[in-house]
Amino acid sequence: MRRISRLAAVFAALTFAAAPVLADTTQEVVNKAPNGLALTPPMGWNSWNKFACDVNEQTVRATADAMVASGMRDAGYQYVVIDDCWHGPRDANGFITADAQKFPSGIKALADYVHSRGLKFGIYSDAGRLTCGGRPGSQGHEYQDALTYARWGVDYLKYDWCSTGDRNAKEAYAVMADALRQSGRPIVFSMCEWGTAKPWLWAKNTGNLWRTTGDIWDSFATKDKAHDWAHPVTDIVDLNEPLWSYAGPGHWNDPDMLEVGNGGMTPAEYRSHFSLWAMMAAPLIAGNDIAHMDASTRSILLNGDVIAVDQDTLGIQGHRVVKDGTSEVWTKPLANGAVAVLLFNRGEQPATISATAQQLSVPLTRRTRMRDLWGHRDVRLRNAAISAMVEAHGVAMFRLDPAGTAR
Ligand code: GLA
Repeated sequence: MRRISRLAAVFAALTFAAAPVLADTTQEVVNKAPNGLALTPPMGWNSWNKFACDVNEQTVRATADAMVASGMRDAGYQYVVIDDCWHGPRDANGFITADAQKFPSGIKALADYVHSRGLKFGIYSDAGRLTCGGRPGSQGHEYQDALTYARWGVDYLKYDWCSTGDRNAKEAYAVMADALRQSGRPIVFSMCEWGTAKPWLWAKNTGNLWRTTGDIWDSFATKDKAHDWAHPVTDIVDLNEPLWSYAGPGHWNDPDMLEVGNGGMTPAEYRSHFSLWAMMAAPLIAGNDIAHMDASTRSILLNGDVIAVDQDTLGIQGHRVVKDGTSEVWTKPLANGAVAVLLFNRGEQPATISATAQQLSVPLTRRTRMRDLWGHRDVRLRNAAISAMVEAHGVAMFRLDPAGTAR
Protein backbone atom coordinates (compact mmCIF):
# COMPACT_ATOMS: atom_id res chain seq x y z
CA MET A 1 0.00 0.00 0.00
CA ARG A 2 2.81 2.40 0.92
CA ARG A 3 4.60 1.82 -2.39
CA ILE A 4 1.37 2.56 -4.22
CA SER A 5 0.78 5.85 -2.36
CA ARG A 6 4.29 6.96 -3.26
CA LEU A 7 3.70 6.12 -6.91
CA ALA A 8 0.44 8.02 -6.80
CA ALA A 9 2.20 11.04 -5.30
CA VAL A 10 4.83 11.05 -8.05
CA PHE A 11 2.10 10.68 -10.65
CA ALA A 12 0.16 13.57 -9.11
CA ALA A 13 3.23 15.80 -8.90
CA LEU A 14 4.00 15.20 -12.58
CA THR A 15 0.45 16.00 -13.61
CA PHE A 16 0.18 19.14 -11.52
CA ALA A 17 3.52 20.40 -12.82
CA ALA A 18 2.09 20.20 -16.33
CA ALA A 19 -1.30 21.79 -15.49
CA PRO A 20 -1.87 25.29 -16.89
CA VAL A 21 -2.52 28.15 -14.46
CA LEU A 22 -6.28 28.66 -14.25
CA ALA A 23 -7.84 32.06 -14.82
CA ASP A 24 -10.09 33.28 -11.99
CA THR A 25 -13.36 32.61 -13.81
CA THR A 26 -12.34 29.05 -14.65
CA GLN A 27 -11.34 28.52 -11.05
CA GLU A 28 -14.81 29.55 -9.89
CA VAL A 29 -16.34 26.93 -12.15
CA VAL A 30 -13.88 24.28 -11.01
CA ASN A 31 -14.91 24.95 -7.41
CA LYS A 32 -18.45 23.83 -8.18
CA ALA A 33 -17.44 20.20 -8.65
CA PRO A 34 -15.39 17.84 -6.50
CA ASN A 35 -12.89 17.32 -9.32
CA GLY A 36 -13.85 20.10 -11.71
CA LEU A 37 -15.22 17.58 -14.24
CA ALA A 38 -18.61 17.06 -15.91
CA LEU A 39 -19.75 20.67 -15.67
CA THR A 40 -22.42 19.65 -18.18
CA PRO A 41 -23.96 16.13 -18.16
CA PRO A 42 -21.46 13.59 -19.57
CA MET A 43 -22.15 12.36 -23.12
CA GLY A 44 -20.81 9.21 -24.74
CA TRP A 45 -21.45 5.53 -25.36
CA ASN A 46 -21.45 2.49 -23.06
CA SER A 47 -21.30 -1.15 -24.15
CA TRP A 48 -23.80 -2.65 -21.68
CA ASN A 49 -27.32 -2.02 -23.05
CA LYS A 50 -26.52 -3.60 -26.43
CA PHE A 51 -23.58 -5.94 -25.91
CA ALA A 52 -23.75 -6.88 -22.19
CA CYS A 53 -20.87 -9.32 -21.49
CA ASP A 54 -20.33 -9.93 -25.21
CA VAL A 55 -17.91 -6.99 -25.57
CA ASN A 56 -14.42 -7.09 -27.08
CA GLU A 57 -11.76 -4.76 -28.45
CA GLN A 58 -12.98 -4.95 -32.07
CA THR A 59 -16.44 -3.76 -31.02
CA VAL A 60 -15.00 -0.88 -29.00
CA ARG A 61 -12.72 0.21 -31.85
CA ALA A 62 -15.52 -0.03 -34.42
CA THR A 63 -17.77 2.00 -32.12
CA ALA A 64 -15.14 4.72 -31.69
CA ASP A 65 -14.70 4.85 -35.50
CA ALA A 66 -18.47 5.06 -35.99
CA MET A 67 -18.80 7.82 -33.40
CA VAL A 68 -16.45 9.90 -35.51
CA ALA A 69 -17.94 8.93 -38.91
CA SER A 70 -21.58 9.45 -37.83
CA GLY A 71 -20.91 12.92 -36.42
CA MET A 72 -21.62 11.83 -32.84
CA ARG A 73 -18.22 12.94 -31.58
CA ASP A 74 -18.70 16.37 -33.11
CA ALA A 75 -22.21 16.55 -31.60
CA GLY A 76 -20.67 16.18 -28.13
CA TYR A 77 -20.58 12.42 -27.42
CA GLN A 78 -17.18 12.10 -25.85
CA TYR A 79 -16.72 9.09 -23.57
CA VAL A 80 -16.39 5.53 -24.95
CA VAL A 81 -17.05 3.34 -21.90
CA ILE A 82 -16.54 -0.43 -21.59
CA ASP A 83 -19.00 -1.76 -19.03
CA ASP A 84 -18.81 -5.10 -17.19
CA CYS A 85 -16.86 -8.22 -18.27
CA TRP A 86 -13.62 -6.73 -19.65
CA HIS A 87 -11.68 -8.10 -16.67
CA GLY A 88 -9.30 -11.02 -16.43
CA PRO A 89 -7.87 -12.21 -13.10
CA ARG A 90 -5.69 -10.15 -10.75
CA ASP A 91 -1.97 -10.83 -11.20
CA ALA A 92 0.38 -12.09 -8.48
CA ASN A 93 0.73 -8.55 -7.08
CA GLY A 94 -3.00 -7.93 -7.08
CA PHE A 95 -3.10 -5.74 -10.19
CA ILE A 96 -6.18 -6.19 -12.38
CA THR A 97 -5.65 -7.54 -15.90
CA ALA A 98 -7.87 -7.57 -18.99
CA ASP A 99 -9.61 -10.67 -20.35
CA ALA A 100 -6.90 -11.85 -22.76
CA GLN A 101 -9.38 -13.48 -25.19
CA LYS A 102 -11.55 -10.41 -25.62
CA PHE A 103 -8.89 -7.72 -25.23
CA PRO A 104 -5.66 -9.31 -26.52
CA SER A 105 -4.03 -5.90 -27.19
CA GLY A 106 -4.68 -4.78 -23.63
CA ILE A 107 -6.63 -1.85 -22.23
CA LYS A 108 -3.84 0.72 -22.59
CA ALA A 109 -3.66 0.12 -26.38
CA LEU A 110 -7.44 0.42 -26.62
CA ALA A 111 -7.47 3.67 -24.62
CA ASP A 112 -4.71 5.00 -26.89
CA TYR A 113 -6.80 4.11 -29.94
CA VAL A 114 -9.91 5.82 -28.55
CA HIS A 115 -7.84 8.92 -27.71
CA SER A 116 -6.37 8.94 -31.22
CA ARG A 117 -9.93 9.34 -32.54
CA GLY A 118 -10.40 12.48 -30.45
CA LEU A 119 -12.56 10.69 -27.87
CA LYS A 120 -12.18 9.86 -24.16
CA PHE A 121 -12.04 6.40 -22.63
CA GLY A 122 -14.02 4.91 -19.77
CA ILE A 123 -14.09 1.67 -17.85
CA TYR A 124 -16.21 -0.16 -15.23
CA SER A 125 -15.62 -1.63 -11.79
CA ASP A 126 -17.57 -2.41 -8.64
CA ALA A 127 -17.37 -1.51 -4.95
CA GLY A 128 -17.77 -5.16 -3.92
CA ARG A 129 -15.64 -8.28 -4.18
CA LEU A 130 -17.20 -9.15 -7.55
CA THR A 131 -18.83 -7.13 -10.32
CA CYS A 132 -22.45 -7.83 -11.26
CA GLY A 133 -21.08 -10.05 -14.06
CA GLY A 134 -18.92 -12.00 -11.57
CA ARG A 135 -15.54 -10.44 -12.47
CA PRO A 136 -13.10 -9.16 -9.80
CA GLY A 137 -14.44 -6.07 -8.01
CA SER A 138 -12.32 -3.29 -6.49
CA GLN A 139 -13.05 -3.83 -2.79
CA GLY A 140 -9.68 -3.81 -1.00
CA HIS A 141 -7.88 -2.82 -4.22
CA GLU A 142 -9.25 0.70 -4.70
CA TYR A 143 -5.96 2.67 -4.73
CA GLN A 144 -4.21 0.01 -6.80
CA ASP A 145 -7.04 -0.04 -9.36
CA ALA A 146 -7.27 3.76 -9.61
CA LEU A 147 -3.54 3.88 -10.27
CA THR A 148 -3.85 1.18 -12.94
CA TYR A 149 -6.68 3.09 -14.63
CA ALA A 150 -4.61 6.29 -14.59
CA ARG A 151 -1.66 4.46 -16.16
CA TRP A 152 -3.93 3.08 -18.88
CA GLY A 153 -5.31 6.55 -19.67
CA VAL A 154 -8.82 6.05 -18.30
CA ASP A 155 -10.95 9.24 -18.23
CA TYR A 156 -14.22 7.89 -16.75
CA LEU A 157 -15.03 5.19 -14.19
CA LYS A 158 -18.48 3.65 -13.73
CA TYR A 159 -18.54 2.05 -10.28
CA ASP A 160 -21.24 -0.54 -9.56
CA TRP A 161 -22.73 -1.95 -6.34
CA CYS A 162 -22.94 -5.77 -6.62
CA SER A 163 -21.45 -8.16 -3.98
CA THR A 164 -20.96 -5.34 -1.47
CA GLY A 165 -22.38 -7.28 1.50
CA ASP A 166 -22.95 -4.88 4.39
CA ARG A 167 -20.61 -2.17 3.05
CA ASN A 168 -21.76 1.39 3.66
CA ALA A 169 -22.33 3.11 0.31
CA LYS A 170 -21.20 6.55 1.43
CA GLU A 171 -17.92 5.15 2.74
CA ALA A 172 -17.32 2.80 -0.20
CA TYR A 173 -17.82 5.51 -2.83
CA ALA A 174 -15.72 8.00 -0.82
CA VAL A 175 -12.79 5.56 -0.84
CA MET A 176 -12.84 5.19 -4.63
CA ALA A 177 -13.36 8.95 -5.09
CA ASP A 178 -10.24 9.54 -3.00
CA ALA A 179 -8.30 6.86 -4.90
CA LEU A 180 -9.20 8.50 -8.22
CA ARG A 181 -8.13 11.92 -6.91
CA GLN A 182 -4.84 10.47 -5.69
CA SER A 183 -4.19 8.79 -9.05
CA GLY A 184 -3.37 12.24 -10.36
CA ARG A 185 -5.47 11.81 -13.52
CA PRO A 186 -8.79 13.64 -14.03
CA ILE A 187 -11.35 10.80 -14.04
CA VAL A 188 -15.11 11.35 -14.14
CA PHE A 189 -16.67 9.28 -11.33
CA SER A 190 -19.99 7.65 -12.26
CA MET A 191 -21.66 6.09 -9.20
CA CYS A 192 -23.95 3.15 -10.02
CA GLU A 193 -25.62 2.42 -6.69
CA TRP A 194 -29.18 2.40 -8.13
CA GLY A 195 -30.46 5.03 -5.68
CA THR A 196 -30.72 2.54 -2.79
CA ALA A 197 -28.90 4.76 -0.26
CA LYS A 198 -30.23 8.03 -1.78
CA PRO A 199 -26.85 9.33 -3.07
CA TRP A 200 -28.43 12.64 -4.13
CA LEU A 201 -28.49 13.51 -0.40
CA TRP A 202 -24.75 12.98 0.20
CA ALA A 203 -22.73 12.41 -2.98
CA LYS A 204 -22.38 15.95 -4.37
CA ASN A 205 -18.70 16.05 -3.42
CA THR A 206 -18.10 12.36 -4.12
CA GLY A 207 -19.31 11.55 -7.64
CA ASN A 208 -19.98 13.45 -10.83
CA LEU A 209 -23.16 11.45 -11.47
CA TRP A 210 -25.15 8.88 -9.53
CA ARG A 211 -27.72 6.40 -10.72
CA THR A 212 -31.12 7.14 -9.19
CA THR A 213 -32.88 3.89 -10.16
CA GLY A 214 -32.45 0.24 -11.06
CA ASP A 215 -31.58 -0.65 -14.65
CA ILE A 216 -33.43 0.74 -17.64
CA TRP A 217 -35.53 -1.71 -19.67
CA ASP A 218 -35.96 -1.10 -23.43
CA SER A 219 -39.69 -0.41 -23.23
CA PHE A 220 -41.87 2.69 -22.97
CA ALA A 221 -44.15 1.58 -20.13
CA THR A 222 -44.17 -2.23 -19.89
CA LYS A 223 -42.42 -3.76 -16.93
CA ASP A 224 -40.19 -6.77 -17.48
CA LYS A 225 -41.82 -9.35 -15.22
CA ALA A 226 -38.71 -11.53 -15.03
CA HIS A 227 -36.45 -8.75 -13.69
CA ASP A 228 -37.89 -6.60 -10.93
CA TRP A 229 -34.82 -4.33 -10.87
CA ALA A 230 -35.45 -3.25 -14.49
CA HIS A 231 -37.73 -0.31 -15.27
CA PRO A 232 -39.36 1.00 -18.46
CA VAL A 233 -38.84 4.65 -19.45
CA THR A 234 -41.99 6.03 -17.79
CA ASP A 235 -41.17 4.38 -14.43
CA ILE A 236 -37.63 5.78 -14.51
CA VAL A 237 -38.96 9.24 -15.33
CA ASP A 238 -41.30 9.13 -12.33
CA LEU A 239 -38.47 8.08 -10.01
CA ASN A 240 -35.92 10.62 -11.33
CA GLU A 241 -38.12 13.70 -11.86
CA PRO A 242 -38.75 14.56 -8.17
CA LEU A 243 -34.98 14.70 -7.56
CA TRP A 244 -34.50 17.68 -9.89
CA SER A 245 -33.24 20.09 -7.22
CA TYR A 246 -30.24 17.86 -6.35
CA ALA A 247 -28.60 18.06 -9.80
CA GLY A 248 -26.16 20.72 -10.96
CA PRO A 249 -22.81 21.29 -12.69
CA GLY A 250 -20.43 18.49 -11.73
CA HIS A 251 -23.05 16.38 -9.91
CA TRP A 252 -25.93 14.90 -11.93
CA ASN A 253 -28.86 12.58 -11.34
CA ASP A 254 -28.37 9.59 -13.67
CA PRO A 255 -31.59 7.85 -14.79
CA ASP A 256 -29.44 5.24 -16.63
CA MET A 257 -28.14 4.96 -20.17
CA LEU A 258 -30.09 5.41 -23.38
CA GLU A 259 -31.91 2.58 -25.14
CA VAL A 260 -32.48 4.62 -28.34
CA GLY A 261 -31.91 2.30 -31.31
CA ASN A 262 -32.06 -1.01 -29.43
CA GLY A 263 -35.40 -2.06 -30.93
CA GLY A 264 -37.85 -2.22 -28.00
CA MET A 265 -39.63 1.09 -28.67
CA THR A 266 -41.16 2.97 -31.62
CA PRO A 267 -39.42 6.06 -33.09
CA ALA A 268 -41.97 8.29 -31.29
CA GLU A 269 -41.21 6.55 -27.97
CA TYR A 270 -37.46 6.88 -28.52
CA ARG A 271 -37.92 10.61 -29.28
CA SER A 272 -39.80 10.89 -25.95
CA HIS A 273 -37.07 8.96 -24.11
CA PHE A 274 -34.33 11.19 -25.55
CA SER A 275 -36.29 14.44 -24.96
CA LEU A 276 -37.14 13.52 -21.35
CA TRP A 277 -33.48 12.71 -20.64
CA ALA A 278 -32.49 16.11 -22.09
CA MET A 279 -35.14 17.89 -19.99
CA MET A 280 -33.80 16.07 -16.89
CA ALA A 281 -30.20 17.18 -17.66
CA ALA A 282 -29.35 13.47 -17.67
CA PRO A 283 -26.07 12.04 -18.89
CA LEU A 284 -26.59 11.16 -22.57
CA ILE A 285 -24.80 7.82 -22.82
CA ALA A 286 -25.89 6.02 -25.99
CA GLY A 287 -26.37 2.27 -25.51
CA ASN A 288 -26.94 1.03 -29.07
CA ASP A 289 -24.77 -0.46 -31.83
CA ILE A 290 -23.40 2.82 -33.23
CA ALA A 291 -21.60 1.10 -36.12
CA HIS A 292 -24.89 -0.28 -37.48
CA MET A 293 -27.56 2.26 -36.52
CA ASP A 294 -30.41 3.22 -38.86
CA ALA A 295 -31.37 6.71 -40.06
CA SER A 296 -34.16 7.10 -37.49
CA THR A 297 -31.82 6.32 -34.58
CA ARG A 298 -29.20 8.68 -35.99
CA SER A 299 -31.71 11.52 -36.35
CA ILE A 300 -32.65 11.17 -32.67
CA LEU A 301 -29.16 10.85 -31.18
CA LEU A 302 -27.89 13.69 -33.40
CA ASN A 303 -30.69 16.21 -32.73
CA GLY A 304 -28.45 19.17 -31.85
CA ASP A 305 -31.35 21.32 -30.60
CA VAL A 306 -32.35 18.69 -28.03
CA ILE A 307 -28.71 18.02 -27.08
CA ALA A 308 -28.30 21.77 -26.45
CA VAL A 309 -31.14 21.65 -23.92
CA ASP A 310 -29.40 18.82 -22.05
CA GLN A 311 -26.00 20.53 -22.22
CA ASP A 312 -27.16 24.01 -21.24
CA THR A 313 -24.52 25.67 -19.07
CA LEU A 314 -26.91 26.64 -16.25
CA GLY A 315 -27.14 22.94 -15.45
CA ILE A 316 -30.65 23.06 -13.98
CA GLN A 317 -32.63 19.82 -14.19
CA GLY A 318 -36.07 20.44 -15.69
CA HIS A 319 -39.26 19.11 -14.14
CA ARG A 320 -42.99 18.60 -14.65
CA VAL A 321 -45.18 21.66 -14.08
CA VAL A 322 -48.56 20.25 -15.23
CA LYS A 323 -50.00 16.74 -15.01
CA ASP A 324 -53.49 16.28 -16.41
CA GLY A 325 -54.30 12.58 -16.83
CA THR A 326 -51.84 11.31 -19.42
CA SER A 327 -50.87 14.82 -20.62
CA GLU A 328 -47.87 16.54 -19.08
CA VAL A 329 -46.01 19.83 -19.44
CA TRP A 330 -42.37 20.14 -18.41
CA THR A 331 -40.02 23.15 -18.29
CA LYS A 332 -36.25 23.57 -17.99
CA PRO A 333 -34.66 27.00 -17.47
CA LEU A 334 -31.77 27.68 -19.86
CA ALA A 335 -28.98 30.27 -19.93
CA ASN A 336 -29.83 33.88 -20.94
CA GLY A 337 -33.43 33.66 -19.77
CA ALA A 338 -34.44 31.01 -22.32
CA VAL A 339 -36.69 28.08 -21.41
CA ALA A 340 -37.20 24.60 -22.86
CA VAL A 341 -40.79 23.31 -22.86
CA LEU A 342 -41.86 19.70 -23.31
CA LEU A 343 -45.43 18.59 -24.02
CA PHE A 344 -45.55 14.85 -23.24
CA ASN A 345 -48.43 12.52 -24.11
CA ARG A 346 -48.31 9.23 -22.21
CA GLY A 347 -51.69 8.21 -23.59
CA GLU A 348 -52.65 5.71 -26.27
CA GLN A 349 -54.33 8.36 -28.49
CA PRO A 350 -53.08 11.63 -29.99
CA ALA A 351 -53.87 14.58 -27.70
CA THR A 352 -53.82 18.35 -27.84
CA ILE A 353 -51.63 19.60 -25.02
CA SER A 354 -51.48 23.29 -24.10
CA ALA A 355 -49.65 25.42 -21.56
CA THR A 356 -50.21 29.04 -20.58
CA ALA A 357 -47.52 31.62 -19.82
CA GLN A 358 -48.55 31.38 -16.17
CA GLN A 359 -48.14 27.59 -16.08
CA LEU A 360 -44.74 27.95 -17.74
CA SER A 361 -43.71 30.96 -15.58
CA VAL A 362 -42.48 32.68 -18.76
CA PRO A 363 -43.80 35.80 -20.45
CA LEU A 364 -45.17 34.83 -23.89
CA THR A 365 -45.41 37.81 -26.21
CA ARG A 366 -45.45 38.23 -29.97
CA ARG A 367 -41.74 38.97 -29.76
CA THR A 368 -40.88 35.72 -27.98
CA ARG A 369 -38.82 33.52 -30.32
CA MET A 370 -40.03 29.94 -30.35
CA ARG A 371 -38.31 26.97 -32.01
CA ASP A 372 -39.79 23.53 -32.55
CA LEU A 373 -36.90 21.23 -31.60
CA TRP A 374 -38.18 18.14 -33.44
CA GLY A 375 -39.78 20.02 -36.36
CA HIS A 376 -36.49 21.92 -36.76
CA ARG A 377 -38.20 25.22 -37.53
CA ASP A 378 -39.05 28.51 -35.90
CA VAL A 379 -42.74 28.89 -35.11
CA ARG A 380 -44.86 31.96 -34.48
CA LEU A 381 -46.60 32.35 -31.12
CA ARG A 382 -50.25 33.16 -31.85
CA ASN A 383 -51.37 33.99 -28.30
CA ALA A 384 -50.00 33.79 -24.76
CA ALA A 385 -50.07 29.99 -24.76
CA ILE A 386 -48.32 27.05 -26.38
CA SER A 387 -50.40 24.30 -27.89
CA ALA A 388 -49.68 21.26 -30.04
CA MET A 389 -51.26 18.03 -31.17
CA VAL A 390 -48.96 15.36 -29.72
CA GLU A 391 -48.91 11.77 -31.03
CA ALA A 392 -49.52 8.82 -28.68
CA HIS A 393 -46.48 8.19 -26.43
CA GLY A 394 -44.90 11.22 -28.10
CA VAL A 395 -43.61 14.69 -27.34
CA ALA A 396 -43.50 18.18 -28.77
CA MET A 397 -40.50 20.16 -27.60
CA PHE A 398 -39.82 23.88 -27.87
CA ARG A 399 -37.22 26.42 -26.97
CA LEU A 400 -38.44 29.89 -25.99
CA ASP A 401 -36.14 32.89 -26.14
CA PRO A 402 -37.73 35.94 -24.56
CA ALA A 403 -37.77 39.10 -26.68
CA GLY A 404 -34.49 40.93 -26.89
CA THR A 405 -32.15 38.10 -25.84
CA ALA A 406 -29.44 36.71 -28.03
CA ARG A 407 -28.92 33.01 -28.66
C1 GLA B 1 -25.67 -3.40 -13.08
C2 GLA B 1 -25.68 -1.97 -13.60
C3 GLA B 1 -25.79 -1.99 -15.12
C4 GLA B 1 -24.62 -2.76 -15.71
C5 GLA B 1 -24.56 -4.17 -15.11
C6 GLA B 1 -23.29 -4.90 -15.49
O1 GLA B 1 -26.89 -4.05 -13.31
O2 GLA B 1 -26.74 -1.25 -13.05
O3 GLA B 1 -25.82 -0.68 -15.65
O4 GLA B 1 -23.42 -2.07 -15.43
O5 GLA B 1 -24.62 -4.15 -13.70
O6 GLA B 1 -23.23 -6.19 -14.96
